[in-house]
Amino acid sequence: MEKYYKMDDMDGILMSPKEIDEATTRLAAEIDRDFADYDGKIIILGILKGSVVFMADLMKKIKLPVEIDFMKVSSYSGTQSTRKINIILDLHRADLSESAVIIIEDIIDSGRTLSYLTDYLRINGAADVKTCTLLDKPSRRDPSLRDFVPDYVGKEIPDEFVVGYGLDYNEQYRTLPYVGILSRKVYENN
Ligand code: IMP
Ligand code: MG
Repeated sequence: MEKYYKMDDMDGILMSPKEIDEATTRLAAEIDRDFADYDGKIIILGILKGSVVFMADLMKKIKLPVEIDFMKVSSYSGTQSTRKINIILDLHRADLSESAVIIIEDIIDSGRTLSYLTDYLRINGAADVKTCTLLDKPSRRDPSLRDFVPDYVGKEIPDEFVVGYGLDYNEQYRTLPYVGILSRKVYENN
């Protein structure tokens, strides 16, 4: 394996550090505005691992007092989404009925992960559930989830496989400070 990630692995930058910074500032302000009069607890719930970089930047810009928590689910293998969603790390809290949960995701593709988690948290009694994603690929939405619209979106993107800023290809590239389009030559032969 190469020792350093190469710009050559990318077909271009989809979100630069500056654009990401502007998006997280805007999203934090939208959340502060929407929850300004909310009386309950606010939990921002990061979905491991892809959301951690985005969540760390976003939560530093939210001015309202929020608690953080995490769940881990899996639905992806390589560059392909699978239909079945597995909960690998569950959320065990006794205060869901007095809490608004804002789910933080790196990207929405078919929409299955976020719509499943939204239903799951509602069934488990959360007072309110909202969804926040850095990236959204609406053209990839599962036809049965066409009505699923996230509450907070950093950027809508075309149907490209992207990595960086938390997003991975087989666990690689998460540490890049930008979102890049992964060149097909990197995954075509795998
Ligand atoms: P969904 O359930 O099909 O919406 O898939 C969402 C999950 O798939 C995300 O949390 C990512 O882990 C993964 N994913 C979808 N598209 C990409 C991509 O372009 N790059 C990296 N991961 C992706
Ligand atoms: Mg993910």
